Amino acid sequence: MKKSLLLIAFIFAFTSCKDSNSNIKKTVKRNGLITQKAMVVSARAEASKIGSDILKKGGNAFDAMMGTELALAVTYPYAGNLGGGGFMVYRLANGEIGSLDYREKAPLAATKNMYLDADGNVIENKSTIGAYAVGVPGTIAGVFAAHKKFGKLPVKDILQPVIDLANNGFVITEKQQARINDKDSIFKAVNGKEILFSNKTKAGETLKNIALAETLERIMNNGKDEFYKGETAQKLVNFIQDKGGIITMEDLALYEAKWRDPVTFNYKDLRVISMAPPSSGGICLAQIMKMIEHFDLKSYGHNSLKTTQVIVEAERRAYADRSHFLGDPDFVEMPLKTLLSDVYLHERMNSFSFEKATPSDSISHGNISGYESSETTHYSIVDQFGNAISVTTTLNGAYGSKLFVDELGFFLNNEMDDFSSKPGVPNVYGLVGTEANSIAPQKRMLSSMTPTIIEKDGELYMVVGTPGGSTIITSVLQTILNVEEFGMTMQEAVDAPRFHHQWLPDEIRVEATTFSEKLKKQLATKGYFINENATPITAKVDAILVLPNGKLEGGADHRGDDTAVGF
Ligand code: GLY
Repeated sequence: MKKSLLLIAFIFAFTSCKDSNSNIKKTVKRNGLITQKAMVVSARAEASKIGSDILKKGGNAFDAMMGTELALAVTYPYAGNLGGGGFMVYRLANGEIGSLDYREKAPLAATKNMYLDADGNVIENKSTIGAYAVGVPGTIAGVFAAHKKFGKLPVKDILQPVIDLANNGFVITEKQQARINDKDSIFKAVNGKEILFSNKTKAGETLKNIALAETLERIMNNGKDEFYKGETAQKLVNFIQDKGGIITMEDLALYEAKWRDPVTFNYKDLRVISMAPPSSGGICLAQIMKMIEHFDLKSYGHNSLKTTQVIVEAERRAYADRSHFLGDPDFVEMPLKTLLSDVYLHERMNSFSFEKATPSDSISHGNISGYESSETTHYSIVDQFGNAISVTTTLNGAYGSKLFVDELGFFLNNEMDDFSSKPGVPNVYGLVGTEANSIAPQKRMLSSMTPTIIEKDGELYMVVGTPGGSTIITSVLQTILNVEEFGMTMQEAVDAPRFHHQWLPDEIRVEATTFSEKLKKQLATKGYFINENATPITAKVDAILVLPNGKLEGGADHRGDDTAVGF
């Protein structure tokens, strides 16, 4: 879909208004695409269109999931994947809810100290680059599990358009070519040669991925086992081991996606349904929202001093808990009931004062350095039957481990870095972990992914999620608050500038231009450190709002090539 179509989709419906409490002057109400019945919002127009076409053919949200997810692997290899994993939260038209965990796992040969040297120090890049950083991929198991349980259309009807897309090619966007150029030298260094994605291509050109088309064709014909036990599995294992990795045929054969109960909680008159561990997303989101629920954010105003303070202080406390308590529920006991209890969260905010910041080292201890940008991708789907799914999927870093399996046409994840290689030492997101998230064979690494669905008055209200590593949780939070507390449309809520605090490092990371000079000074006076120069907040929220008249409004993040398509 062309950019012009996206622009046509924006409807300028309201006249100028100004929120006197707000840091932002609002001039117009700007809606995203509005449709009658069904919608797919994802990081690429081609993937949204394939999902929407599947719905038009009579498929449901779970059929569209398979098509959209794998079309993202074709068109958005930055994060879309066969070599990664993800989480899906669903709400059926009858109100039934659930979630699917297709997170990567540590290989059988993984050990707790596999990224440490003889002196016990973390070896730089070992958990982030190349074959040793790769976790056992879960994506194919995930889309087949969802399809098996709920899908309506034959796999062939879903996958053929994706295979055609890989064979016929997709147009490289400006933003995409810039990302590829940025990584060109590391691709060459890690792979030892030029790969399909290089600075030889130009924005506007069409890129075909024939190897991926062939892989997808084998998967279409032979099912999930093709990836985990068949020819594709053997090629994948040969490749990984040849490059120094430890994943075996047994690791692939053992992989299974898991159905899990989602985290649910109320915020005012909303019921929020989000992902449970091994993602920290739902728990962290619940803790933050319950901690801020009793503050009158609406009267404080969007991105105002008081709103920022309340949100930052709740985030600080929730991320400190995340680091200490959370991990894979199949391996660690977590005090989830206490972490979500009103008494505990009330006590947690007792030390908060509008007078001055609470230093992070008074919440808990840690010693932190920098972080790099994070890449993951999210898509939201509402089908014409009223089912909704919220899916976040990832390779972890941008293009994962940077290792491209050229014979199969896809990148491999570097998800092993989401484990805590050494307690107290931060991962690429600057997140610190403890024993709960240490490495063990077959264990799933802790995630921040927060695919979320919201009900209002018992009805479907919003589907929301985003990439962005540790900023995922706070971006989902702000998007919900932007609609609920600050009266924004879905598109405005997605586009509004965001900020982020994750306990450590003890700083508010803000998108440039988010905070006025006045607000920055006020926050600094109260003891907050503002960081506008570090990695920008990379979250690209893709969301759907059910409007009062039952129509759907898409929010496709302007920060990427994200696009809503529907009917
Ligand atoms: N790899 C990013 C996350 O799972 O949070």
